[in-house]
Amino acid sequence: MNHYSSRIFLTVRYLVGLFGLTLTRTSTELSSYRIHAGHGRHDDSRPLPAGSAGVLDDRNPELAELRTRYRRLDSPFKPGRFWRRSRRLRDLNLRYFRGDNAYVWQLRQLGDNARLKFFLLTRYISSLDTHKLLDRTSEDGAFGCWTFDFESLPTASRDLLDSINEIYFLERHWGLLSREDFTVVDIGAGYGRLAHRMVECVPGLTRYLCVDSIPESTFLSEHYLRYRKVDGKATVLPLDVMEDRLATERPDLAVNIHSFSEMPISAIEAWIGLLARLGVPALMIVPNEGDRLLSLEDDYLRFDFTPVLRQHGYVLAAREPTVADPDVRDLVGVGDWFMLFTREGAQQAPPSGAS
Ligand SMILES: C[S@@+](CC[C@H](N)C(=O)[O-])C[C@H]1O[C@@H](n2cnc3c(N)ncnc32)[C@H](O)[C@@H]1O
Repeated sequence: MNHYSSRIFLTVRYLVGLFGLTLTRTSTELSSYRIHAGHGRHDDSRPLPAGSAGVLDDRNPELAELRTRYRRLDSPFKPGRFWRRSRRLRDLNLRYFRGDNAYVWQLRQLGDNARLKFFLLTRYISSLDTHKLLDRTSEDGAFGCWTFDFESLPTASRDLLDSINEIYFLERHWGLLSREDFTVVDIGAGYGRLAHRMVECVPGLTRYLCVDSIPESTFLSEHYLRYRKVDGKATVLPLDVMEDRLATERPDLAVNIHSFSEMPISAIEAWIGLLARLGVPALMIVPNEGDRLLSLEDDYLRFDFTPVLRQHGYVLAAREPTVADPDVRDLVGVGDWFMLFTREGAQQAPPSGAS
């Protein structure tokens, strides 16, 4: 790059940072951009559960202690700048952590006619629900979650619908609902969205372990999973004890939903390397950019992390758009993909009942 073009590049980088855009680089070229950071809203029409307002406070000593512990760690799993307090976490209100925010874009992707789009999605998910999971888990809108009520369908939220959809993908390709006695690890588990739903819906699950490099996420998921009374099976592992505990628990499946896409390649390599050392046989990924597996670096550039998966023995076993019906996909504007990787040479425990 000559002096002139490097000046242009730096100016573009400055503007990109200023407006929250992300440049994408898959090899050595800048290839596209996408708006990432933003500021969401929450639904405050329901009061917070009793006692929560006092606990979910930025000055809570438990959270302060986690922040200190995580800051002191010299960890390869460290987040990039994107998830530092000044950026991604600006898009989070601790008390209303289930609003439209850094964890789940409950609404902002949908644009106009959100209720109509939710109706289509809810009908679509209901049509998949052969195991009646929508009778086992429901949406109450707690902690600021946006919900939609219908006459003939269950009250819906993105938390609920995404989670049920993810469970059915794992049922189709990993036999999730008929397995027995297995452990899942969720990398970048957010506030514990999928942990909550899995414990309520998946009978053979023994343990669901939530790990995360952001102290706010560890803090919130701990609180949320206790509030939902699923903490008998769902356990939050703080970053500084996580490796030892995972070595004892030996998870059978790892999930990574919209989280590798928000990490630098150094952290992605560290997580995938850890899963390989632990011999975790299967890894589900939902990227932020369709079916493209891209990191997010501090300078907004992005690297394809497919080679990292390959180096550690993970090969693609299944890949599907998250919404199979092309009309629903188009009308709602959902462009996400489910991906399942399995590890060559690893023992895949068959679902119970399989011969
Ligand atoms: C968009 S949120 C998705 C949360 C959750 N997986 C879900 O789908 O509801 C991304 C998550 O990645 C976590 N995260 C960011 N950087 C991380 C890192 N280096 N290691 C582990 N988790 C990280 C954040 O704390 C957050 O929980």
